[in-house]
Amino acid sequence: WWSSVSMGPPDVILGITEAYKRDTDPKKVNLGVGAYRDDEGKPFILPSVRQAEERLHCKMLNHEYAPIGGEAGYTDLVAQLAFGEDSPVLKEKSNCTVQTLSGTGALRLGLEFITKHYNQTKEIWMPSPTWGNHPQICNTLNLPHKQYRYYDKKTHGFDLCGAMEDISKIPAGSIILLHACAHNPTGVDPKKEEWIQLSQVIKDKKIFPFFDMAYQGFATGSVDNDAFAVRQFVNDGHQVMLAQSFAKNMGLYGERAGALTFLCGDAESAAKVMSQVKIMIRTMYSNPPLYGARIVQEILSVPELKQQWLADVKSMADRIISMRQQLRAGIEGAGNKQNWQHITDQIGMFCYTGLNADQVAKLTKDHHIYLTKDGRISVAGISSKNVNYVAEAMHKVTS
Ligand code: LMR
Repeated sequence: WWSSVSMGPPDVILGITEAYKRDTDPKKVNLGVGAYRDDEGKPFILPSVRQAEERLHCKMLNHEYAPIGGEAGYTDLVAQLAFGEDSPVLKEKSNCTVQTLSGTGALRLGLEFITKHYNQTKEIWMPSPTWGNHPQICNTLNLPHKQYRYYDKKTHGFDLCGAMEDISKIPAGSIILLHACAHNPTGVDPKKEEWIQLSQVIKDKKIFPFFDMAYQGFATGSVDNDAFAVRQFVNDGHQVMLAQSFAKNMGLYGERAGALTFLCGDAESAAKVMSQVKIMIRTMYSNPPLYGARIVQEILSVPELKQQWLADVKSMADRIISMRQQLRAGIEGAGNKQNWQHITDQIGMFCYTGLNADQVAKLTKDHHIYLTKDGRISVAGISSKNVNYVAEAMHKVTS
């Protein structure tokens, strides 16, 4: 029955981990996938998550189905985390928020909802570059996608002029995808005053904003700071759509805890949207998994746990900043003549090194360092044990 199926390519990001696992060299380093590691290079279980798990264990909860859209206790808290506790849109219940299978599930559900129910220009504009899975999901859904300028190769920073120019030409009613913070893959975010300008042009041009917020807390170490763009857009009157993930900021990669929110303008529209989203979820996976959502809910609802979590997020963000500094110092210290300032300027989990495809291939072949072809490295995969090795190797392939 299946002999006519052709071989598909490996995933551009997760395929790197597969290749890394096949490598038997003890020096190997995986800087491909964005998954946080501690300074021993080991997966990190946040102390707040451990405590939440212990509390949950004592509660002896049952294993009944979750509601189709997830538990309200969870969706209320995650919406508050994104939009702010005093957000008027939450007070007036004009939001429809459902639990999703992490950030990818939120994007898939949200974009699928657009293909079915959005009645304006069904075309989505993405930053150039963007996370590899964004265009893939659109391709699967036959949703046309285009790009607006975002990253400036010369400055290794945000191309405000290019972005403003391109966005101002996007047809009214189109959708724009925005990374709320810690842009993946570049690690380059607009500054606050630049977000304000972006919000204005997007409003003037009647474009619909869809935010992907997979790294709240990871960019600056503060969850409120990292929600600035989303909250600014809401204050400016945008009815945003928002994908959230707790993979990175709670280290819940495998638990698939995320959320999708539609701001709908009023409670009645929110109820109608909810009724349709539920039909979509029911026919895809029935209802979401409970375990990760329970951990998130416990952390966000118990004040001491929340404090612990905020400290945990900050500690992860701080370790990454320190690794950026050490990596840059290591490459410069090796006598490399190029400018590496962007390593410390960029923020979040990733650094867009500027290495070209040949240099990336050399890094992998000669030094067993794995990274995506676009030169992105997950700084979270660097530790004090391997930073000098990585710096030395980056120096060698670029000089
Ligand atoms: C990444 O970009 O490495 C992460 O978001 C993991 C993934 O699923 O691609």
